[in-house]
Amino acid sequence: MINDLWYKNAVVYCLSVESYMDANGDGRGDFEGLTRRLDYLQGLGITTLWLMPFQTSPRRDHGYDVSDYYNVDARFGTLGDFVEFTHGAEQRGMRVLIDLVVNHTSDQHPWFQSARADADSPYRDWYVWADEQPPDAVDGIVFPGVQKSTWSFDKKARRWYFHRFYDFQPDLNTAHPMVQAEILKIMGFWTQLGVAGFRMDAVPFVIGTKGPQVRKPVEQFDMLRDLREFLQWRQGDSIILAEANVLPKTDLDYFGDEGERMQMMFNFQVNQHLFYALAAADCRPLVKAMKQTKPRPSTAQWGTFLRNHDELDLGRLTDEQRESVFKAFGPEKNMQLYDRGIRRRLAPMLEGDRRRIELAYSLMFTLPGTPVLRYGDELGMGDDLGLPERVCARTPMQWSTEPQGGFTTSDKPVVPVISEGPYGYQHVNAAVQRRDPNSMLNWTERIVRMRKEVPEIGWGEYEVLPVRDPAILAVRYDWRNNSVLFVHNLSDTPREVALSTGLAGPEGRVLINLLTENHSNAAEDGKHHVLLEAYAYRWYRVGGLDYLLKRSDIETPARA
Ligand code: GLC
Repeated sequence: MINDLWYKNAVVYCLSVESYMDANGDGRGDFEGLTRRLDYLQGLGITTLWLMPFQTSPRRDHGYDVSDYYNVDARFGTLGDFVEFTHGAEQRGMRVLIDLVVNHTSDQHPWFQSARADADSPYRDWYVWADEQPPDAVDGIVFPGVQKSTWSFDKKARRWYFHRFYDFQPDLNTAHPMVQAEILKIMGFWTQLGVAGFRMDAVPFVIGTKGPQVRKPVEQFDMLRDLREFLQWRQGDSIILAEANVLPKTDLDYFGDEGERMQMMFNFQVNQHLFYALAAADCRPLVKAMKQTKPRPSTAQWGTFLRNHDELDLGRLTDEQRESVFKAFGPEKNMQLYDRGIRRRLAPMLEGDRRRIELAYSLMFTLPGTPVLRYGDELGMGDDLGLPERVCARTPMQWSTEPQGGFTTSDKPVVPVISEGPYGYQHVNAAVQRRDPNSMLNWTERIVRMRKEVPEIGWGEYEVLPVRDPAILAVRYDWRNNSVLFVHNLSDTPREVALSTGLAGPEGRVLINLLTENHSNAAEDGKHHVLLEAYAYRWYRVGGLDYLLKRSDIETPARA
């Protein structure tokens, strides 16, 4: 197979236009500002941008409540500014993914306004209604503590409407053929304006059956194939990256047995167990999560991430595991959210300890899949726990030591810039870090560059190497006649590990370190005896650096 599937070896960067750069001085970011920062993103080595919702919206849920799918919210600019942005990104070799939020609309959307006002409205059936309050109205709440119910009474319609999320986000009746046609139209529209695909919001809910009689939603997986086919007919190399926090046993239902559904999904299973591994210095549950999520069609890919714009959801861990993550990374109630997660940013969770931050990132970059970074994490930005819910980790990007961190000329940014304490923009910002060769920013740039030169991670088969110490994770990838090997020490004490590369033949005797001069030669017993400092990570090429001379054009049989 020719390696044309760009998402297999991409580096994705997730940002919200609102928080990135304010060019018009109104205190919130906009497309013009973002376009001016494209050179920064290109310099960092980002290949793909994922933009959170920027369409017209009351923005009561950060834009995940859309009131016009075919427009840019006037606060961020115009469709013209959007096209300037996608054009600028394309000129710099970056692809753009945007959020596709079609499980629900805003209650201000004209479709909902029409649906509630008139029983004969063509949009009435675009939403999900009940005459009486359904008995399970308090089940399946997504934001416990904030959201009270999944059914609310609408005074105008004099009926109950279904909302999986907040009450201002009425669910679309996604089983309705007209709604389905509209979703395709939305995808077609933005594709025409230069996007390379979509991060699809809340996929299990979009395809789940909805209605007052539905006790347990049943996913209509065929819908995924329709979406994907339409998109690929329009633009062959477009993809959908699905947000589906589901159990591994349904992964293949989302990817499709033949890879005919979603090209990518976020790996929530690995994400949660990775945080447990970091908290407890115990990789065993992580390895199990990796094995459970290993089977996938060859064209499918995982999105690997640490933090995103939501809380770190720990709902899939056992109570004990969750407790140990809370204890390590979010001990105070105010750091936790929705009874299941932590709302902090990565750097403060790891106490700003560079060794631990690098370790976490090194893991993210070398676990099977395509890495997805969160804006500001490349600087080690912090959070503002004084802000409500998930807003605490959505503060403006910190560009410089200038007022408001160089984010805006306004003295009243809509979301305040972090300006106090060790994470204040005075200390943590791009301008200062650019000048410092050892900064987090320059470290990130180097690791991104190296990650792109190790396509084995995105494309290859992998094997977790047996080591006795649960604090050590050793993974080898094989692809096209080459192998790479990664070793991580998750504990706060030095460790020595005896490793066998698992490869037959002489080449496994030499490990070339890709990041330092600290290479390894096998001892007489054939094993590599690697000394690892606390929180250390090693990136090795097996055999030597002539790998590009040795790379084959086709898959070679398993090497072990
Ligand atoms: C997804 C988004 C989240 C949003 C919700 C409702 O979970 O990631 O931010 O609030 O969907 O659209």
